[in-house]
Amino acid sequence: MEITVGVGNIVEHKSKAIVVNLFEGVTNPGGSTGAVDKSLNGAISLLIKDKEIKGKLNEITLVHTLGKIDSDRVVVVGLGKQPEFDTESIRKVSATVARYLQRIGISEFSSIVHGAGIGQIDEKDAAQAMVEGTLQGLYRFDKYKSDRDKKPSIKRLNIVELDKTKIQNIQQGVKTGTIISDAVNLCRDLVNEPANKMTPTRLAEVALEVAVQNGMDISVLDKAEMKKLGMGAILGVAQGSDEEPKLIVINYNGDNSEGSQTIGFLGKGITFDTGGLDLKNAAGMRGMNGDMAGGAAVLAAVQAIARLKPSLNLMIVIPATENGIDGKAQRPGDVVKTMSGKTIEIDNTDAEGRLVLADALSYVQSQGVSRIVDVATLTGAISTSLGNVRMGVFGNDQNWIDAFISSSEKVGEKAWQFPMDEEYKKQYKSDIADIKNTGGRNGGSITGAQIIGEFAGDTSWVHIDIAGVSRSESLTGYTPKGATGVPVRTLVQMAMALSNDSN
Ligand code: BES
Ligand code: ZN
Ligand code: MN
Repeated sequence: MEITVGVGNIVEHKSKAIVVNLFEGVTNPGGSTGAVDKSLNGAISLLIKDKEIKGKLNEITLVHTLGKIDSDRVVVVGLGKQPEFDTESIRKVSATVARYLQRIGISEFSSIVHGAGIGQIDEKDAAQAMVEGTLQGLYRFDKYKSDRDKKPSIKRLNIVELDKTKIQNIQQGVKTGTIISDAVNLCRDLVNEPANKMTPTRLAEVALEVAVQNGMDISVLDKAEMKKLGMGAILGVAQGSDEEPKLIVINYNGDNSEGSQTIGFLGKGITFDTGGLDLKNAAGMRGMNGDMAGGAAVLAAVQAIARLKPSLNLMIVIPATENGIDGKAQRPGDVVKTMSGKTIEIDNTDAEGRLVLADALSYVQSQGVSRIVDVATLTGAISTSLGNVRMGVFGNDQNWIDAFISSSEKVGEKAWQFPMDEEYKKQYKSDIADIKNTGGRNGGSITGAQIIGEFAGDTSWVHIDIAGVSRSESLTGYTPKGATGVPVRTLVQMAMALSNDSN
């Protein structure tokens, strides 16, 4: 889909549909909405007077212009109550408008920038949010549907602005919004892909494309190289599957200054989680093609970061493998030796995410990374505590945790920090190895995080459990049913906030 920005008066614009807006409670519309209203002989204010338009968030009213202006239709979208209005509202209404117009078969429409100048929101942020809502809200995963080309789709959005001094900022917002949405939708594509297609090998191929197209270095370690590095934990998980494991490593170098540091984003890349010999039941195994959502998120994030070019260095690592089950699969009670030298007793083969992340964590440390975020669909328990609304945040450095949480709040991806008391750690003591890979049912998300944390050492480390939020059961706002793309936007925002340019 193409997005253009032009100077002009929306009233004089010619399009299949033009979009204007209204805050809740406004009886006498001003600005562009007022101008359109006048040209339509007061049709909009009449609808307001008759209480057919209230301005509630996401309310849509279609008015046919019957030749009174050049465009065929006017859509009035409600922005909700002005004091509650924020960039999240802009993303939501933009998605609602785009989906509505797509549903009624409109292929091209024009809109003013919603919300620019309201509260703290400038035209750049407003345009970015509008593009994000539109592109993320229109996302569909229909590549395996034979009739996908027959479905209506929107080909173009024209953003129309009266004030030409704002055009450059709007263009900048459109560019950023497009880059971020492309990354979110890439993440969704990877997560929605079935496991017979999205194997570790295929994930590594996609990573290669992302790296090459955006001028980044990539290395993909195979089984033999992992063996050399002593990555017994990943290899233990991988040994029950015919799919070759891959350790995917991409470097983004945006800061060559002396003493510059590199941060690390790690993502769990289990392309299918059967549970292993501790086999999941039928219901539990559904959706386990999405157990690489953390890996998909860090890959998508580095694509956006390479395009936005913040001044920082970033390494992303995805330990990718299936957690399969065959005659060679690892057994409960097995002991594996990790790259760090620590040994782990396999108490439950279904607790595989922390195993692959343990070795990945040692790997990024061996590469000199100073601060780390890992993203993983780690525990079912996180859904018990936070439902499908917030991701869980864990870590060993409050400043680094706060960096993640403030970025998540800025972009509207909800997060919640968990405690990490020492007392929990006794739950994963082992009789025969240094630790075991589970800590029992109680506080399962916390002990899961702490087991990963055993491999962080003194490095600043944050762990994000996205098992509850990586997939959505229904359409909400600009997030369609299926893979959500969380927390791509937070990771990108974090990189932008850490950029030397923003200091
Ligand atoms: N991939 C699962 C966690 C998961 C569950 C993700 C539901 C998305 C939806 C993870 O590998 C797992 O199986 N965790 C176990 C850990 C337990 C054995 C300690 C769990 O949550 O049951
Ligand atoms: Zn898993
Ligand atoms: Mn599992």
